Amino acid sequence: MNPKRLLILSLTVFSLSLALLAFSGQGPGGPGNQAPAVQGPWMDKSLSPDRRAELLVGQMTLDEKISLLHGVGFRQMFASPGSAPPTRSLGGAGFIPGIPRLGIPDLQMADAAVGVTRGARFGRYSTALPSGTSEASSWDLKLAHDYGALIGRELRNQGFNMSLGGGINLTREPRNGRTFEYKGEDPILAGKLVGQEMKALQEQGVIGDVKHYAVNDQESGRSFADVKIDKRAMRESDLLAFEIAVKDSGVGAVMCSYNLVNGDYACENSYLLNEALKRDFGFQGFVVSDWGGTHSTTKAALAGLDMEMPGNTYFGEALAKAVNSGEVPMARLDDMVHRILRTEFAVGLFDLPPDRKVVDVFAGFEVAQRVAEQGTVLLKNAQGQLPLRASSLNSIAVIGSHADVAVISGGGSAQVDPPGGNAVPPPPPPAGAPPRAFFEQVVWHPSSPLKAIRAKAAHAKVKYDAGLDPAAAGELAKASDIAIVFVNQPTSEGRDVPSLSLPGNQDQLVSAVAAANPHTIVVLETGDPVTMPWIDKVSAVLEAWYPGIRGAEAIANILFGDVNPSAKLPVTFPRAEADLPHPKLTQQPPPASEADQVAPFPGAPFRMNTRRFEVEYNEGLKVGYKWYDAENKQPLFAFGYGLSYTNYAYSDLKVVPGSAVTVTFNVKNTGARPGAEIAQVYTTLPASAGEPPKRLVGWEKVQLAPGQVKKITLRLDPHYLSVFNPDNGKWELVEGDYKFRVGGSSRDLPLSQTVRLGG
Ligand code: BGC
Repeated sequence: MNPKRLLILSLTVFSLSLALLAFSGQGPGGPGNQAPAVQGPWMDKSLSPDRRAELLVGQMTLDEKISLLHGVGFRQMFASPGSAPPTRSLGGAGFIPGIPRLGIPDLQMADAAVGVTRGARFGRYSTALPSGTSEASSWDLKLAHDYGALIGRELRNQGFNMSLGGGINLTREPRNGRTFEYKGEDPILAGKLVGQEMKALQEQGVIGDVKHYAVNDQESGRSFADVKIDKRAMRESDLLAFEIAVKDSGVGAVMCSYNLVNGDYACENSYLLNEALKRDFGFQGFVVSDWGGTHSTTKAALAGLDMEMPGNTYFGEALAKAVNSGEVPMARLDDMVHRILRTEFAVGLFDLPPDRKVVDVFAGFEVAQRVAEQGTVLLKNAQGQLPLRASSLNSIAVIGSHADVAVISGGGSAQVDPPGGNAVPPPPPPAGAPPRAFFEQVVWHPSSPLKAIRAKAAHAKVKYDAGLDPAAAGELAKASDIAIVFVNQPTSEGRDVPSLSLPGNQDQLVSAVAAANPHTIVVLETGDPVTMPWIDKVSAVLEAWYPGIRGAEAIANILFGDVNPSAKLPVTFPRAEADLPHPKLTQQPPPASEADQVAPFPGAPFRMNTRRFEVEYNEGLKVGYKWYDAENKQPLFAFGYGLSYTNYAYSDLKVVPGSAVTVTFNVKNTGARPGAEIAQVYTTLPASAGEPPKRLVGWEKVQLAPGQVKKITLRLDPHYLSVFNPDNGKWELVEGDYKFRVGGSSRDLPLSQTVRLGG
C-alpha cells in the first residue's frame, strides 16, 4: 500500500476508535468530561472561589445540596440502590454525579497513592511509581513535586478530577501493611513531602486528598481500634504531619480514617475535624470519610464530616431529615456544600475540566526511574563491594524474588495495574477454595532486574536461580564471581505483616548464598523495615523498597555505579522486634458474643468481628528514632542513614537566633565521585520541654562534585522548634538552651552548637 493510502487508512481507524470510545463513554467527550455548559455569575473567574461557591450554593435546592454529599464506590458492596447512575462513572474508587442544571461537574475519584489505580479497567495505562517510602527516602521536595505532578497529569488524562492519595500516616507501627503508601516516621519530613506532592497534583487541576486522618497507624482491626493517645503527643507527631501538608499545599480534601481516636470514630471526632483540622490548621476544603467510615448523621455532620463515601446511609435522606428537623442547622449543610464547591472552583474543576488523552508512558518511565534511583538506600557496602565493575566480572549469580521477570508492588486500594497483567501470576486456588481476597493478592510489575543486570555486564555469564532451594542457590553462588540475592516482603492494605522477618525461606536463602560466596549483595524489595539476621555475612545491602515500573533499571544503575546512591532512611530499622515500642502488634480480640459478629453489607457471604479494642499509643510522641534515642536502643540502621559511593565532611556550623533561627554549615565531597548528600539538622530542646532527645528540624539535599564544598543556610520554621501546650491549644517556644546538631544521619551528627531561645 502506498504511504498516502496507509496514512488515510490509519487516520480513519483512529477517528473511528475515538468515535467508539466517545460512544462507549470512555473517550474524549464521553462521560466524565461533562463540561459545564451553564452560564451563571459563579462562572466569573475573576471572583474568589469562596464568592463563586456562595453564589452557587444560593441557587441550590435541599435535594441538590444533599446529592453532592455522598456517592458510589466501585465496589458493588458499597453501592446503594438508586444512588447514582453508574454509567457516568469512570470506574474509579468513587463517583458523585454533578448537577448539569447548574454546570456542577461529576466528581470522578481514583485511588492514586503511588500511581493511578484500576486504569486497566478501561484499557488505560498508568505509571506504577515507586512506593511512598521510596519517594520519602529521597528527602527531595522537588522530586515529591514531580511525583505529585505525574499522578495529577495521569489522573487528568484518564478523566479523573479527584485523587484519593497523599497517604501520610506516620510509621508508628512498622508492621503496618500500608507503610509503603506513606512517607516514614518523621512528621516534618512526611508533611513537607506530601505538601509538595499535593500542591503539584492540584496544579494539574485535580483535587488532592491527604489521608487517613488520623493515627490510623495499623491495619489490624482498623475499623474497631480505639486509639488512645494524649493530645500533645498526637499534635506533635501524627497530626503535625497533616498540619504541614495541609498548610503547604492548600489541599482540597482530607480523608478521615476508619479507627476511633480517644473514644470517637475519626469521622465523627469533633476534636480532630472541627478543632484541629478546620480551626487550627485553617483547612478550607472538605472532609470525606474513608470508604464505609461514616457512622452517624447528626454526630458526624456536627463534628465536621462533609462527605460520606460511598453510599448514602447517613448523608442521604437521613441528613435531609436532620436538616429539616433543625438537628443539623442549614448553615452547617451549606458549609459542607460550600467547602466542596469552593474547592472545585479553587482547583479548576469548573474552568479546566479534565482533557482525556493517552497517558505519556515515557514521561512516566522517566519520573518512575528517577524516583527509584533517588529513593534506593545503600545500607551496607563492605570493602567497596559496590559499585560493580562489569569489566572485572566473568560470572554473576542473580537469585530469588522472581528477579528474572519482575519487581514486587504493594497491595490494596493503592495497587496500580501492571501493564499486561500480573508479571508473576499466582497459581490458581485449589479446586473448591474461595478466590483470593483483594488484600491477599501479590502483584508484580514487569521490570526484570536480570535483564537490566545482563545489559550492564554484557561480557559476563549472568545466571538466574529462583531461590526456592537455598542449597541449590548456594551452588550457583559458589560457581560465580559475585551473587546478587533479591528478597521481598509483600505488604498490603487490610493486613499487617506478622513480623519484621522476611517471609518464607528468604533468611535461610541469604545465609546459604553468603556462606557460599563472600561477595554477596542483597537487594531488598520491602514495604516495611525488616530484620537481617545475616547482616554480618553479606558484603552489601540495597533497600529498593517497591521500586515501580522502572525498578530494574534503577537498581542496575546503582549496582553498577551509573547512579551514585544518595537516599537516606525515612524509617528506623530495628535490630529486633523486641526493641519496638510495641514488641507485639495489638490485635483485635475474637468476638465475645454473637452480637459482635455482623454481616458487613446485605447478603455478604461472611460475618465480621466488630468487637472494639484499644490500641494504647503510650510511647506518645516518641515515634521512630525518637523512641530509640529516648530508650537508648541501638537500631540496626538509623533514621536518616544511607551510604554513598563517595564521602562527605561537615564543618563551620553557625547557629544564629532570631525570629527564625538560621543554621549555616559547610559540606564537602571528600571522595572521587560526584554525589548528593542529604544534610540533616536536629535539635535537642531544653530539658524543661519534656521532649525526646532530638527532633529533625531541617535538611537540604546538596549536589557536590569531587572536592567541592558548599555552604548551606537553613532558616528554621519556629513551629518546628515549639511544643504543643494542650492546656491552651497553642504551640509555644520553651525558653532555654537548644542544642543544634548537624550531619548525615540521626546517629552521625559531627557538628553541634547550643544557643538560647525563647523568653
Ligand atoms: C482505603 C482508602 C481508599 C478507599 C477507596 C479504603 O479501603 O482505606 O485509602 O481510598 O478504600 O478505595
